[in-house]
Amino acid sequence: MRGLFITLEGPEGAGKTTNRAYLAEQLQAQGLEVMLTREPGGTPLAEQIREILLAPHDEPMSVDTELLLMFAARAQHLAQVIKPALAEGKIVICDRFTDATYAYQGGGRGLDCSRIAVLEQFVQGDLRPDLTLLFDLPVADGMARAVARGKLDRFELEQHNFFEAVRQSYLQRAQDAPERFRLVNAQQTLPEVQKSLDVHLVEIMSRARG
Ligand code: TMP
Repeated sequence: MRGLFITLEGPEGAGKTTNRAYLAEQLQAQGLEVMLTREPGGTPLAEQIREILLAPHDEPMSVDTELLLMFAARAQHLAQVIKPALAEGKIVICDRFTDATYAYQGGGRGLDCSRIAVLEQFVQGDLRPDLTLLFDLPVADGMARAVARGKLDRFELEQHNFFEAVRQSYLQRAQDAPERFRLVNAQQTLPEVQKSLDVHLVEIMSRARG
C-alpha cells in the first residue's frame, strides 16, 4: 500500500499555511489519515537546517550551499517522515517540496536546472509528488502580505525581480506538467480559495480511496 503525496507550492504570502490546515481537516473528517509537514524542515534535524537557511547571516551564503542544504534537509525529511508515512498508506501534505527548489534556486537564484535535476534524482530516486497545488498570486500582493506578518527571513528580504522569477518559474512548471499541477488563484478571499480547494479535495479523496 502506498499513500498519496500532495505538495503545496507558491510564493510567500499565498496562504499555504492557512489552507494546508483546511485541507488536512477536511480529509481527516472523511476518516483519512493525514500527515501534515513542511520543507525545509519537518524533522528536528531538518528544522535546524531550515534555521540556517532562513536566518540572515553576515557571511553571504553561496547559491550552491543553499541548494545543497535544501536537499540535505529533504533527504532527512524523506527518510524520517515522508517515506514511512507513505508506506503506511497516509496522505502526506507537504508545504513546499522540490518544485520550490526549481522556482527559488533555479528561477530566483538563476541556478542551472540540470544541476537541480541531478540532486533530485540522487535524493528522491523515482519519488515525485502525486499532486501539486500551486497557490498563485501577483508578486506585489504576496510581498505585502509577507511584510504585514512581521520580521522578514533571508528569502523574504529579496527584491521584486527575484519573486517575479520565482513566480514565472512555478507557472512554467505547472504548464509543463498539467497532469500533476492544479492552479489555485490565491488572490481570492479565503472563502473563495477554500471553495476552489473543495474541488481538488474531491479529486484527492477519490485518489486516496482509489
Ligand atoms: P516558508 O516555508 O515559510 O514559506 O519558507 C521557506 C522559504 O524557503 C521560502 O522562502 C522558500 C524557500 N525555499 C527554497 O528556496 N527552496 C526550497 O527547496 C524550499 C523547500 C524552500
